[in-house]
Amino acid sequence: MTHATTPAIVRTIAELRQQIRAYRRAASDEATVGFVPTMGYLHEGHASLLRRSAAENGLTVLSIFVNPLQFGPNEDLARYPRDEERDVALAANSGVDIVFLPSVEEMYPDYPLLTTVSVSSVTEHLCGASRPGHFDGVATVVAKLFNIVLPDRAYFGLKDAQQVAVIAQMVKDLSIPVEIVPCPIVREQDGLALSSRNVYLNAEEREQSLALSRSLAKVEQWIADGETAQALATKLAEDIRQAPSADIDYVEIVSYPGMQPITGSEPLGVYGGSVLIALAVRFGRTRLIDNRIVNPIEAGDLVCSAK
Ligand code: PAJ
Repeated sequence: MTHATTPAIVRTIAELRQQIRAYRRAASDEATVGFVPTMGYLHEGHASLLRRSAAENGLTVLSIFVNPLQFGPNEDLARYPRDEERDVALAANSGVDIVFLPSVEEMYPDYPLLTTVSVSSVTEHLCGASRPGHFDGVATVVAKLFNIVLPDRAYFGLKDAQQVAVIAQMVKDLSIPVEIVPCPIVREQDGLALSSRNVYLNAEEREQSLALSRSLAKVEQWIADGETAQALATKLAEDIRQAPSADIDYVEIVSYPGMQPITGSEPLGVYGGSVLIALAVRFGRTRLIDNRIVNPIEAGDLVCSAK
């Protein structure tokens, strides 16, 4: 059940472990721990994951940690937006029991780390190609957080569809006993996918950023028209370029969750599995991503449970 709570604020790994252990000791055998890892500056997209976790688990743990490992040297680590007070208020209204707010020193006493988790193949394209090292940073911090929290379920947004594929692969390969729960993209009323980075946009960029969701909304029609994956990618790019300040990083069409490019001369509509149509576009200094999954497989196919 989602309920208004006063979440405990925890800043050390030792205290977090102790609180979760205490919960498990006191609770029944069926009680589960849900976990939502974030980088903070929370919005309705994050809240949707938190509410789902609170509805499905006895204890919900939210982590807020701007993970330096997943930012490239020229990326926005230093200016990434932060607002701890507002985040804790949103957590309280979303059914969170524990907010884990570690410092960089707490998470990485030996920085840079000597151990890295690196997932291949699913990271070859899209953000994996345009942000070298990014998914090593994500996989490493998420593996570490899983080891600290030991959750039964962890909730991730399909806004970052490649991230879901990376984490699901990692959990499967390393037999991490957690169920990965992919959750739908939450959007503004006008279609822009919610993102902590949307605050970077000026009024004109905000207006033009609608090109992403607007062009993605056309893909089903284009697929019905019989377009191939390549023709569809070209059409999408042309459509997005109608927004004069849009600077395309990539428009890619890949299998999901395998993340391999779909080529060939058959219409995309006859492709058997799930297809991820993914975009990354810069507006000024702000890089936005959005996507659409067509022919969706059952969400269950993405869920990895401990065996
Ligand atoms: P962050 O960007 O803060 O996102 C935290 C979670 O919220 C991710 O699972 C993300 O997909 C989800 N999310 C963000 N915007 C969303 C939206 N509009 N709709 C639905 N879900 C949305 O992703 C990260 O942080 C980090 O890489 C992290 C996994 C925490 C590792 O550092």
